[in-house]
Amino acid sequence: MNYGIHLEKVFNDVGREPSKGEVAKYIPELAKISGDKFGVHISCVDGSKHSFGNASEKFSIQSISKVLSLLRAYQLAGEKLWNRVGVEPSGTAFNSLVQLETDLGIPRNPLINAGALVVSDVLISNLENPKQEFIQFVRDLAGIPNLNYNEKVAQSEALCGYRNAALVNLIKDFGNINNEVEEVLDFYFHLCSIEMSCVEMAETFLLFAQDGICPMNDKQVIKLENTKRINAIMQTCGFYDEAGEFAFKVGLPGKSGVGGVIVAILPDQYSIAVWSPCLNEKGNSYKGMKLLEEFTTATGYSLF
Ligand code: DON
Repeated sequence: MNYGIHLEKVFNDVGREPSKGEVAKYIPELAKISGDKFGVHISCVDGSKHSFGNASEKFSIQSISKVLSLLRAYQLAGEKLWNRVGVEPSGTAFNSLVQLETDLGIPRNPLINAGALVVSDVLISNLENPKQEFIQFVRDLAGIPNLNYNEKVAQSEALCGYRNAALVNLIKDFGNINNEVEEVLDFYFHLCSIEMSCVEMAETFLLFAQDGICPMNDKQVIKLENTKRINAIMQTCGFYDEAGEFAFKVGLPGKSGVGGVIVAILPDQYSIAVWSPCLNEKGNSYKGMKLLEEFTTATGYSLF
């Protein structure tokens, strides 16, 4: 399959359409980003790669970091992790509080904000220098030694992170946060601020398409059966209350972030990252979804 030819065509087709939706405004640093950015990169397991548009420009990965923090927490805590966070799709917005009250502080899954805050707490408990060790973990996965947090973005989110503060306080009240609220929030905001380009993100996520083996160093980062589980969580929970729609239209496990990026994988084939900052009303990139829908339709390959 020549993925490059199909990708170039859908990139040009979707690129010609006017941008719908809006850039995320609730984090002031994100509001400054141009809605016209549009880039995509695909990395295939056979080593072929293709980039179009603003694929090498960095942005903050936001909720995409939730998959990487889940990966690290699963490595460290093993199956005990599932006592603290579930694996069911929430069907609610990414930052919703509503289910936590009846679920007694156990978030539905690790890819909503509530779940990622619990995962952050697990990491803080298991790492000696959480921020330094976590960024080193991502650098090793990505094969990029200078990958970093964007302090401006982290601080910007801290200034208006009322909802995340409400979530972590509520969860702590139920006894499912062991560290200090301020430390958990600071760590979580930093994870969201990590900067990558589409090229770097697709390369980093390629491990989920090749049975948990990192393409940078050929190491088994996570066992095959646990790779399956993380992919299943991306498929069912990666797009919040639009997870069904994403499966219906695109048919790939993936994850979105409010910076306007979507990363998705086709096991044994490829990892793809597309960036277009204008979001639909569910907080997912409008053109990102459109491009991926047209791409899996054009190639005739998806999970289904
Ligand atoms: O916590 C937040 O609200 C953001 N830092 C991340 C949210 C996000 O990316 C949701 N994705 N669609």
